[in-house]
Formats: sequence, C-alpha cells, structure tokens
Amino acid sequence: MGTAALILGKDNVRMIDSSGRKLDYLRISVTDRCNLNCVYCMPEKERENRAGDYMTDQEIFLAAEAMAELGVRHIRITGGEPLVRRDCWKLVGGLKALPGIETVTMTTNGVLLAKHLKKLKESGIDGLNISLDTRDRACYQKITGQDEAETVEQAIRLACAMNIPVKINAVSYDFAQDRMGGNRKETEPWWLSAASLAQELPVDVRFIEMMPLGYGKKFPTVSHQQLLKELEQFFPGMKPDRRCHGQGPAVYYQVPGFKGSLGLISAIHEKFCSRCNRMRLTAQGFLKPCLAYPDGVDLRPLLKREKKEELKEAVRKAASIKPSAHCFENPQEMREQRNMIEIGG
Ligand code: GTP
Ligand code: 5AD
Ligand code: SF4
Repeated sequence: MGTAALILGKDNVRMIDSSGRKLDYLRISVTDRCNLNCVYCMPEKERENRAGDYMTDQEIFLAAEAMAELGVRHIRITGGEPLVRRDCWKLVGGLKALPGIETVTMTTNGVLLAKHLKKLKESGIDGLNISLDTRDRACYQKITGQDEAETVEQAIRLACAMNIPVKINAVSYDFAQDRMGGNRKETEPWWLSAASLAQELPVDVRFIEMMPLGYGKKFPTVSHQQLLKELEQFFPGMKPDRRCHGQGPAVYYQVPGFKGSLGLISAIHEKFCSRCNRMRLTAQGFLKPCLAYPDGVDLRPLLKREKKEELKEAVRKAASIKPSAHCFENPQEMREQRNMIEIGG
C-alpha cells in the first residue's frame, strides 16, 4: 500500500496521491438500504441487517464542500439505492451549488426513478447510471428478487426523452447458464438483451466484471477478454470509441448502427487502478480511498462538530494512504468485509 504523503498542486486545489494520481472524483453513498436484493450484492436474508445512522444532508454538503476545496470536481451519488432516501433529489441541487463542483451524477437501480426524474432534471443532474443486467423479465427477477425489468426500462426511456445522459450498468454474468431460469433462447448470448438497448436508445451500455466483494465472491468473473471477442464477432465493424464518456474506468466501443456505445469495466482483467481518480464516502461518513480495502478515515465526528479545516486534514490523510492498486486477483489479501451495498459500487 502507498504511504507517501499527499502532495498538493501549485494552486493548492489538486489532490495528488502518492502514486501521482489526481483525485477529483468523490462517490457519496447516501444510504445502504435498497429496494432490490441482487444475488451478488444483498440477498434477501440480509435485508434488515443495516446499520442506519446515515449522514444528514448538511453533513453530506459539508463533506463535499471540504473535498471540493481540496480539488474534487465530480460527485456521484450512490447507495444502496439512493432514491430510497427521502428527498434524495434535494442533494443534487445542494451539491451542484458548491464552488468547484462541475458535475453531479447518480447511480440507481431505476425502480423508483420515473417519479423522481422531473425533480432530478430541475436540480441539474448531469447524468444517470442505471443498473439493468438483463431485459429478460424472469432472469431479472431471479437476479434482483423483483419483477421490475419493464419498470426500469420505462424509466430509461423517459430519462432519454428528457435529454438526461444515461448509461446502463450490467454486471457480466451468464445468469441464464447458471440455471437461474429466464426465457433466454439457448442461441442468444447472455449479454445481448442489455447490449441491444444501445442500438435502440442513445445510452452507453457498460458491462462490469464481477468483483470478489461480499456476495460477489460466490460468483465467477466472466473475463472481458472473452466478452470482447464475442462482441467483436457478433458486431462486425465494432471499434474503439476514444471520446470521453464520463469520469469512470469504462473503455468504450462504437458499433455501426448503434445510437449509444458499448463499454467494458474490466476491474479484474484490465486493471485500471493506475488511472484511478476517486474516493468513496460511506453513508455513515467513513472515507474509503479504495474500493478494495477497508482502510480509511472516519469523517463523522468532524462532520458532527462542523470542523472544516480538521475535515480537510482528515481527507488528506485518507488520500495519503490510497493504495496503488486493488488486490482482487489475490483473494487471501482481501480484508474488506463490507458488501457492495455498503460501499455503493
Ligand atoms: P462514469 O463512467 O463517470 O459514468 O462513472 P462510473 O462508471 O465510475 O460510475 P458507476 O457508479 O456507474 O460505476 C460502475 C461500476 O464500475 C461500479 O459499480 C463499480 O462496480 C465499477 N467501478 C467504479 N469505480 C471503480 C473503481 O475505482 N474501482 C473498481 N475496481 N471498480 C470501479
Ligand atoms: N461486482 C461488480 N459490480 C457489482 N455491482 C454490485 N456488486 C458488484 C460486484 N460484486 C454493481 C451493481 C451496480 C453497480 C453500482 O455495481 O450491479 O450496477
Ligand atoms: Fe441494490 Fe444495487 Fe445492490 Fe442490486 S446491486 S442490491 S440494485 S444496491
């Protein structure tokens, strides 16, 4: 793990970590509750086992303000499912109003999205990443525990009609092969129903390699080297898309005739840690410099006491212990016990 001290840029508003990476992206989990129970994230039996005691809106704004003063420019609101937090849309306008903040986006499962779209749009949301592993209703229900695939797809169409930039997140796993049922035709690849959304709609569909965090450990990771081969064979003329699509680690491809792009988030087979630009704040106010490790700094006492300068010092400390890379390929090194639902992806 990197231990060198944090270096501030000349203008004093850039956080550069000990591996030379600029940290300008903060993911804020606003709740660890969710209205779905994805098998790789939070199976039903864990449903009631949540810590609660979430940061208040004011605490979230203070944390973001302190981090914006240190160089954070992009904020993503995550969960659990952020829209189960009451009046979650109010966070968008408040965060956007902070000096230095350029974009505020949200990652959601989309089930409650349709009724919040108008307020999110009015608050200035810059983009929505919506999770939809498959459009096969039965298969979606097996994965998430709920028959909501069509609700989510409807929300995606509405968001597009409102000109909100949308990306789709699909975890790469051949659930149908795994005897999870569903109506998938034997001849149809597992990824086709999700990928085809990018043909119909101006959305980027990103496949995510399963990461060995929490329940994700129980599922094998489909290699994106293999997936890329399958996609290239299926879509002749597919080629790399080097345009900037956001602040995240996805690598994009254009397919002739598609309105959106296809993306690969290949955390295991194309480790992207050297380009990492982010830190994560849990819903209880613990600042995690890396997804893969439990280490970090508890900002909550400082948030409660409204000590901004001390907060900034604590943020610098967290940045200074940001590891140079994850250790997903070495399960024996994995110390993070949190589930994805407590981290927010
Ligand atoms: P944009 O590309 O800017 O839209 O954001 P994003 O892809 O970072 O956001 P999103 O919440 O949609 O992230 C998609 C998934 O990518 C996450 O849920 C994680 O599974 C994975 N991911 C995002 N950031 C990291 C990271 O720093 N490390 C690893 N290993 N995976 C990440
Ligand atoms: N590996 C990869 N992605 C995961 N997600 C949840 N758990 C895992 C895991 N173990 C995805 C969700 C969502 C995003 C925020 O993270 O499906 O799209
Ligand atoms: Fe909820 Fe997202 Fe976890 Fe699924 S992956 S249970 S939608 S937080």
